[in-house]
Amino acid sequence: MKKLIFATNNQHKLEEVSHLIKDNYKILSLKDINCFEEIPETSDTIKGNASQKSHYIFDKFGIDCFADDTGLEIEALDGKPGVYSARYAGEEHNFEKNMNKVLAEMNGITNRKARFKTVISLILNGEERFFEGIINGVILTEKRGQEGFGYDPVFQPNGYDLTFAEMPLEEKNKISHRAIAVRNLVNYLNKLSE
Ligand code: IMP
Repeated sequence: MKKLIFATNNQHKLEEVSHLIKDNYKILSLKDINCFEEIPETSDTIKGNASQKSHYIFDKFGIDCFADDTGLEIEALDGKPGVYSARYAGEEHNFEKNMNKVLAEMNGITNRKARFKTVISLILNGEERFFEGIINGVILTEKRGQEGFGYDPVFQPNGYDLTFAEMPLEEKNKISHRAIAVRNLVNYLNKLSE
């Protein structure tokens, strides 16, 4: 079985991916390889951060790996908060404050178009490949719903009357940016081992 590190400490993401990938791969977390340090994310793009994380792990541990990075891109704000989504309102990574900042900046703006974008960088057999997942939607004028995390209460995907935070988690996890990116990665890996 080929070992592949998923450069994350998020147990939920790990289970989701492990579940989808066929038996040919053994997915390891950062904990599994005793990596407890903060991985640098200093790029000014989502793709750059994903790449920085996977290279950091590969250079240090020499095991094939992948890493993901996500951001919310709002058209009227020139793509912000984008790569800065996690710390938009400050270093404390506070979801409420981040959403409040977005709502304040969007006050009075009629173009509400936004999208979540996930990029995965995979380093396999010395080569890097990228996989992307995008979901388009709109930013509401107020928060709705209790599920999920991050900007979910203010993001409504196109074609739905519910925000991400009003949907059951299984529903969101079927259609989300991350789900699409992960499916693209998994399809690629599963094809390789056919
Ligand atoms: P990460 O790259 O997955 O850590 O995501 C970076 C930031 O983007 C998070 O801290 C959230 O603010 C935001 N984000 C990522 N995925 C989601 C999501 O599915 N819903 C809402 N916000 C998200």
